[in-house]
Amino acid sequence: MKNLLQLSTLSKEEIMDILNDAIKMSQGEGLDSCKDKIVANLFFEPSTRTQYSFNVAEEKLGCKVISFNAAASSLQKGESFYDTVKTFESFGIDAVVIRSRQDEYYKELVGRISIPILNAGDGVKDHPTQSLLDLLTIYQEYGKFEGLKIAIVGDIKHSRVAHTNIEVMERLGMTCYISGPEEYRDDEYTYIPFDQAVEEMDILMLLRVQHERHEKEMSLSKEEYHARYGLTMERVHKMKEHAIIMHPAPFNRMVEIADDVVECDKSRIFKQVNNGVYVRMAVIRRAFGG
Ligand code: CP
Repeated sequence: MKNLLQLSTLSKEEIMDILNDAIKMSQGEGLDSCKDKIVANLFFEPSTRTQYSFNVAEEKLGCKVISFNAAASSLQKGESFYDTVKTFESFGIDAVVIRSRQDEYYKELVGRISIPILNAGDGVKDHPTQSLLDLLTIYQEYGKFEGLKIAIVGDIKHSRVAHTNIEVMERLGMTCYISGPEEYRDDEYTYIPFDQAVEEMDILMLLRVQHERHEKEMSLSKEEYHARYGLTMERVHKMKEHAIIMHPAPFNRMVEIADDVVECDKSRIFKQVNNGVYVRMAVIRRAFGG
């Protein structure tokens, strides 16, 4: 049984194995290879990309899929998180995919739940499959990680994507910077002014301001944010010729990204979404020992 809880516990070799498996999946391998398995997707926090790309990945592997509707479940009668997951295990499910707004929710489950747990995002801590699909997108673009420079721009403090990516990307030999409003910076990381990042980076990764995780309102208006930190076409023209734009999405048009940048030539945003399916196929198969 192989859980996937945090990328920081996986070696570089294990990460490359997952990426190489995902590439094979993108070439048509793996279809129907988990036909006897039932997977439950337990999302305790809203999601479009992660939830439904896990769903598509499971369908492609031939799994039977159960999608949990938290709003119509016995959570509404006061049932606990642990009892909900234990109930699904008791149904005879083979693996659970879980997203929760609780940091490290899995600590309550490890040792008490005997089926694989795949972390689909926990609080502001980790988003392992998002980082894997980001890595796959970068690897497809450059064929390497060593020596690449990335700036992650925006609400770093509240971003599990930033935290997971910076740890793994630095381990793989990339140089990581952060940029964006002072109120969302994390002093643990190296800051670079946004307009300098635009000109110098191989990869610009934009983040949404995660208002749902804030205790107080952002001090900037959307217009001010866009003027100072928004990626506009004017700024795109200043990027290196080979540089690319990434965003885990959902994105807020005309805040961190201009409308016409979302699908411009340098944007890999929908490539990331597509890669999410293959990475999730690879981690599900890995969970079943494949
Ligand atoms: N990138 C990401 O996790 O998107 P969702 O919240 O829609 O799953």
